[in-house]
Amino acid sequence: MSRLEVQGLAKTLGEGDRVAVLREVSLRVQSGQCLGLKGATGSGKTTLLRIVAGLERPDSGEVYIDGLLVSSPKVHVPAGKRRVGFVFQSLGLWPHLTVEGHLDYVLQASPFRGDERILRKRQLLQAFHLGGLEARRPGELSGGERHLLAIARALAPDIRILLLDEPFAGLDGQLRDLVIESLGRIRRERQLTTVLVSHDIFELRALSNELIYLREGHVVGSPSSLSSARGTGGEGSGRKGGSGE
Ligand SMILES: Nc1ncnc2c1ncn2[C@@H]1O[C@H](COP(=O)(O)OP(=O)(O)OP(=O)(O)O)[C@@H](O)[C@H]1O
Ligand SMILES: [Mg+2]
Repeated sequence: MSRLEVQGLAKTLGEGDRVAVLREVSLRVQSGQCLGLKGATGSGKTTLLRIVAGLERPDSGEVYIDGLLVSSPKVHVPAGKRRVGFVFQSLGLWPHLTVEGHLDYVLQASPFRGDERILRKRQLLQAFHLGGLEARRPGELSGGERHLLAIARALAPDIRILLLDEPFAGLDGQLRDLVIESLGRIRRERQLTTVLVSHDIFELRALSNELIYLREGHVVGSPSSLSSARGTGGEGSGRKGGSGE
């Protein structure tokens, strides 16, 4: 159970021809809730997630997890200490490691030991349809299977925040439904505070409690509550606010 808060975040990227990607972004995700994030190509969604994860530093503004400042121009808690799971848009799998190797690697640094670790690995392999593929490397997986591995890897450690950057790309309709169901169940069981980036309104409805839009470096409009959405995770808090101010 963790609370995520972003306040007045700004970030300019590029050398020479610099682009103000985020101008003033504020949002809040309550413990165990899922915030859907939509926005045009290049609107800064990935940049925002990278700052929350600790992979980029903001030019101004702050990120708080459970009220603790983790990012600001002066403060930077390293990514590895934030207990944030990230499904990267680019996946970022390790070419030399097998499917099982990916999970073992991240589990090594987790508090899970012995049977608990083995059980966790088995559950993730099953939940994300990776059974039988344990010995394959990323180059020997299909595009969709690589996405499944990226999701399983993000969920393996003892995380408190989950960031999903277009995690279902490459999955066909039926498998996508099953994966959304598994992800929704794990989110609920572990009360994972989540941000889901997607261009697909079905995916956003299925998992999110609220939806916000990024445009020209700002959160635009008030967050729409998806509490009436039927789906695996959009069970709805009825909460308003979530903040675009
Ligand atoms: N390292 C970088 N250097 C310069 N510009 C960058 C860098 N990374 C991203 N950008 C630019 O910042 C803008 C925002 O990129 P970002 O990846 O955050 O967008 P996005 O909303 O995730 O887009 P998409 O929907 O295509 O994934 C884009 O215009 C992109 O070209
Ligand atoms: Mg992106």
